[in-house]
Amino acid sequence: MAGQIPPQFIDDLLTRVDITDVIDARVPLKKAGKNLQACCPFHNEKTPSFTVSPEKQFYHCFGCGAHGTAIGFLMEYDQMSFPEAIHELAESVGMTVPTTKSLAPNPAKQNLYDLLDKVSQYYVHQLQTHPKRDEFVAYLKRRGLSANTVDHFNIGMAPDGWDNVLKTFGSNQQAIKQLTEAGLLSSNDKGRTYDRFRNRVMFPICDRRGRVIGFGGRVLDDSTPKYLNSPETPVFHKGHELYGLYRARKANRQLSRIVIVEGYMDVIALAEKGITNAVATLGTATTPEHLKQLQRSAPEVVFCFDGDRAGREAAWRAAENALPMLGGNHQLKFMFLPDGEDPDTLVKQQGAEAFNGLVEQAKSYSDFFFESLESRVDIDSMDGRARLVEVARPYLRHIPTGVYREMFEQRLAERAQTSTSVLHKHLEKAPTPQIEVKKAAPTSSGISPIRMAITILLQHPELHASVGEFDKISALSRAGVSVLVELLETLHQQPHLNTAALLERARDTEHGEHLKKLAIQTLDLSPEALQHELVGVVEQLQEEALELRHEFLMAKGLSQLTEQERQEIQQLASRMKR
Ligand code: CTP
Ligand code: MN
Repeated sequence: MAGQIPPQFIDDLLTRVDITDVIDARVPLKKAGKNLQACCPFHNEKTPSFTVSPEKQFYHCFGCGAHGTAIGFLMEYDQMSFPEAIHELAESVGMTVPTTKSLAPNPAKQNLYDLLDKVSQYYVHQLQTHPKRDEFVAYLKRRGLSANTVDHFNIGMAPDGWDNVLKTFGSNQQAIKQLTEAGLLSSNDKGRTYDRFRNRVMFPICDRRGRVIGFGGRVLDDSTPKYLNSPETPVFHKGHELYGLYRARKANRQLSRIVIVEGYMDVIALAEKGITNAVATLGTATTPEHLKQLQRSAPEVVFCFDGDRAGREAAWRAAENALPMLGGNHQLKFMFLPDGEDPDTLVKQQGAEAFNGLVEQAKSYSDFFFESLESRVDIDSMDGRARLVEVARPYLRHIPTGVYREMFEQRLAERAQTSTSVLHKHLEKAPTPQIEVKKAAPTSSGISPIRMAITILLQHPELHASVGEFDKISALSRAGVSVLVELLETLHQQPHLNTAALLERARDTEHGEHLKKLAIQTLDLSPEALQHELVGVVEQLQEEALELRHEFLMAKGLSQLTEQERQEIQQLASRMKR
């Protein structure tokens, strides 16, 4: 079957590789009976409960429950994707992975990483040698950065001029194409191509494994834009990346807390003062993707915002995005700086102690949540308290069911001066009728259709092009639908992603593990049959979703319908097959 690593090969690989060598090279192990031990690299501990069994070729931590094979270890510890881990291990024991191109590490991407790394070194070199370097050095000094910190963050300079990078790295058409792909060039209407970054301080942005994936460039004066960032490229996705995460993880073997700030300079200025656990988003709001990564890196995440109105609003957006991630072993907190300060100015004027003090005083998620909502109502009046329940309602639904959500509801009941049972009755008033899901017939292979569609897409992403409309199917509350829609949307936006890239994207998501398993399933069908299956499943789901929406609107009764809904009914009817 094209595009998959045969399970047989993985079996063979895992008998040839010795997990104790793999782990010992990264986390030194000590003999303990027939096993080996160390302090667990995946959680904070003082006495070792991380155990490696040479016999089972498996690791297990009795403290945090982390466990897996040599492949899993590389993925967790070195942040490799599944195929990357396989290739790394295969190489270490001299085996060749029998895959077709779609699962092998993508050579085009590798070239981009190599190029970005070279360009980053070039910018650093310019800062050391360029005739105009003084101006840049003086700027960095003025911002309070020591040579050490500049070095540590690989800060560089893009000299003034239209074609420094273009000339140095774009010796032929192929090279120019790569520079463009790496986001290092811009072009004007007349088709003239030139350096994207000119006369700027350059901050390389690294992914979690320390590979340079893009840059932020800052002007030296007040001109605009103040910061220019790399555009989205095959290796750079703004909404996924966090500036400083790689270095924070490297500086602290076990992070107990991460502080998320707004700017590059904040991360760097904090590090200058010895605070090495700060990261920044790249000029975007914090996405759920960011949060997932952060929660995997540390048990406590503290959002740091300016105390002004914009800061409060940004904090509320972050809080909204965090709702599905609440509960469990993670703590989310919010801290606010005095108006007009950012972490950079604060540590510079008042020192690390002052900043750490504010971190310690950070508000818990629930305190921030209720304070924000209560500021919108008059909590002293009965009407205001009823209103509080109304405004809280849409948010509560997004908190995962469990102890945390119950406590949230309890607190809401207390604040609204009602009982949880009254509150519950109110909360359960479903805004839309429960969607009833029909069982789709199993596919010819016996596994559920949605699972089949996901497996096909993962192993043959190119087949997504044959899929028809799927815009309604996320309304179906059936297992796997959201994963399927996400895959389809991703491929719709980036049609050239291969299996490895899809898995890499899913690595930190709740479905990552599951997808990895599906990626190595054997699909004993011809490419035509797979395509037919995939197209059929999506079509059926879309049809079901259209029907359900139609039924729902019809059930409302004609007099209850808005004009918009009437139009929708007509559209639905024309789109439905029957
Ligand atoms: N940002 C951006 N483009 C801009 C302005 C800001 O991408 N034109 C992003 C950058 O990631 C920046 C962050 O938003 O680090 C915060 O912006 P801001 O608070 O304006 O910058 P500072 O980090 O305070 O920058 P500096 O201290 O260098 O002025
Ligand atoms: Mn600043």
